Amino acid sequence: MALDNHDTSDANAPRKGVWKSGKGKGRSQTKGRQLQEDAWDEVRALLADKPRRADLLIEHLHLIQDKFGHLSAAHLRALAEEMRMSMAEVYEVATFYAHFDVVKEGETPPPALTIRICDSLSCELAGAQALKTALEDGLDASEVRVVRAPCMGRCDTAPALEIGHNFVDHATLEKVKQVIAAGDTHVHMPDYEAFDAYVAGGGYEALKKLRRDGDWEDVQQNLLDAGLRGLGGAGFPSGKKWGFVRDNAGPRYMAVNGDEGEPGTFKDRWYLERVPHLFL
Ligand code: FES
Repeated sequence: MALDNHDTSDANAPRKGVWKSGKGKGRSQTKGRQLQEDAWDEVRALLADKPRRADLLIEHLHLIQDKFGHLSAAHLRALAEEMRMSMAEVYEVATFYAHFDVVKEGETPPPALTIRICDSLSCELAGAQALKTALEDGLDASEVRVVRAPCMGRCDTAPALEIGHNFVDHATLEKVKQVIAAGDTHVHMPDYEAFDAYVAGGGYEALKKLRRDGDWEDVQQNLLDAGLRGLGGAGFPSGKKWGFVRDNAGPRYMAVNGDEGEPGTFKDRWYLERVPHLFL
């Protein structure tokens, strides 16, 4: 087994995390969590030939979480090594998101299955607390863990919960038991409209025409006159926002935030699932 998968050309080269000692000076190992060979092997096998780019960190964390049911300290350390990132960076991301379960040395890993029940406003009003209690009383805690979670963008089907990666709408204890019995813990995506199909049916013709011979000031004024506002809570006029962007020299970047966050909304999830080309 090679000690370093990045470069096996020099078998005598010191491994990262191990200081080369010389004439009695220095330590034989760095401070902090040491790299464990078995965990490193597992992470490498899981990542296989996937790129080790930093922007894929969350994807790689998901791979480990899905495979082992949690993120052990040893796997995080191995992932940091594999991606050539600091342990602090990896740990910071892993502990930021509720879907990742970081388990330090000596801690007990969670059960194999986790139910995340939304307790944000719409679900709370639809009985999330009573449902959580029913789940805790009606399921085997050694096999299933029930935890609260923030809005899942499914406020239209409250109370909502997630079993593994399977979202259950209008959830009840009975529905949950059926899903668990069927082992149906994987994500279900609705059919979505592909960009090519939409364009083939005449989609984006108006946009093309506008790009060719449109007047953007005119479009922006139309937005303002129509009173179109953002649905992010502040209700900021869309036409003004467009104006701020157009007033600045390029390049301009657009960040699409798919986190609903506002009580009662599920628009982003709906569009991202069904007409993703709208965002592109
Ligand atoms: S409040 Fe529960 S999904 Fe939005």
